[in-house]
Amino acid sequence: MGASHPHNGRGASEPAYHQRIAVDFDYPVHFTRGLFDADNPLLADVLDRRGERRHRAVAYLDAGCVGAHPGLPRRVKAYFAARAPRLELCACEVVSGGEGAKNGWQSVRDVMWTIGQTHLDRQSFVIAVGGGALLDMVGFAASIVHRGLRLVRVPTTTLAQNDAGIGVKNAMDEHGRKNFVGTFAPPFAVLNDATFLPTLSDRDWIGGVAEAFKVALIEDAAFFDVLCERADALRRRDLEAMAACVRRCAILHLEHIRDAGDPFEFGSARPLDFGHWSAHRLETLSRYRLGHGQAVAVGIALDAVYAARKGLLSDAELERILDGLTACGLPIWCDELTVRDERGRLAVLDGLAQFREHLGGRLCVTLPDGIGRKVELHEMDADLIAECIGELHDRAGRRPAAKAAQ
Ligand SMILES: NC(=O)c1ccc[n+]([C@@H]2O[C@H](COP(=O)([O-])OP(=O)(O)OC[C@H]3O[C@@H](n4cnc5c(N)ncnc54)[C@H](O)[C@@H]3O)[C@@H](O)[C@H]2O)c1
Ligand SMILES: [Zn+2]
Repeated sequence: MGASHPHNGRGASEPAYHQRIAVDFDYPVHFTRGLFDADNPLLADVLDRRGERRHRAVAYLDAGCVGAHPGLPRRVKAYFAARAPRLELCACEVVSGGEGAKNGWQSVRDVMWTIGQTHLDRQSFVIAVGGGALLDMVGFAASIVHRGLRLVRVPTTTLAQNDAGIGVKNAMDEHGRKNFVGTFAPPFAVLNDATFLPTLSDRDWIGGVAEAFKVALIEDAAFFDVLCERADALRRRDLEAMAACVRRCAILHLEHIRDAGDPFEFGSARPLDFGHWSAHRLETLSRYRLGHGQAVAVGIALDAVYAARKGLLSDAELERILDGLTACGLPIWCDELTVRDERGRLAVLDGLAQFREHLGGRLCVTLPDGIGRKVELHEMDADLIAECIGELHDRAGRRPAAKAAQ
């Protein structure tokens, strides 16, 4: 203030020009089997869905997935070679998957370097085949080169097919925090192939079911019933039961992202992160010994006990939730819940502050309000959380963990 305005001499501003831009995103999420089989036209058709006819691509394959499917690089290359010159695969790289892919920047640099060396442009494709971590890392790199290439995700774990791989964002771990860095970048397409799933470890097979419980508990009571009914089949690695679970869970996530009015998370609420304020913290406390799905299962269990203490769930509903998770072979307890920091405070509580800092504004934690409905709380009582941890310990002790089938 004070200094006179150069145009009108009164220090006043002219009316602002209010810019408004609407951008429409749409992408298909397909469910298929044998995506890279020579006679499966789906991938070629998806790359051509805007009718441009010539397509250049690079592919990144998760090394863990390739270890279990050794013929994968050959099949991917053969798929493109059989469709040359319409499709051109400029590079096909096998890169380490798992949470390590999201820690450290060399993997991102490598992807950017390959895109540069192969002279891909914004109409070219980056095809990422792997678990949620690999998809996050490759997706992040693809979203920043030329401000974004077209990303085709081929998720190969249950959790990636029903949650991590189907949404609009990516992330890297940094500053000792999960998902500290990342961008919103909707994919060009997502191709879920159930034939990848049978080779998953027991941990990664059942991990996605935790996200299914998460979304069922806040959005869909009937789906929660199905999960409880099919718990044994899911734990015993029945592929058809899992494919149905993955599909329903994926669609619930997609509908939420489309309909909840905040796909890029400008507000402070994030219902799909029910159970996650503690889960992310437990993952880092365990130095990623806990898989994301396992940490989410414990986070759901803890928040369910809290919801019951708040009168939001009946004791019978709480029992069903804990029984359902356990029957699937998911944990409802981990020792990281009792880790204390140097001041003697429960270390998991930092998760609340980190959750608030990430989204900004008021703390907003989503809890079930009965099964299949949700409510937002703006405060969580630290003493009550500590009591809930004690209660969860007792309840978990009374439930012998169901052994996952080998
Ligand atoms: N971007 C998002 O919206 C979003 C949402 C939820 C979770 N995530 C992230 O997803 C990650 C978890 O993903 P995840 O559960 O898929 O775990 P993951 O990516 O860590 O994969 C688990 C393991 O399975 C291996 N693997 C992958 N496919 C395989 C196959 N078909 N057969 C055998 N092994 C295979 C991987 O190499 C890895 O070792 C976390 O980093 C989480 O933060 C992201
Ligand atoms: Zn999650």
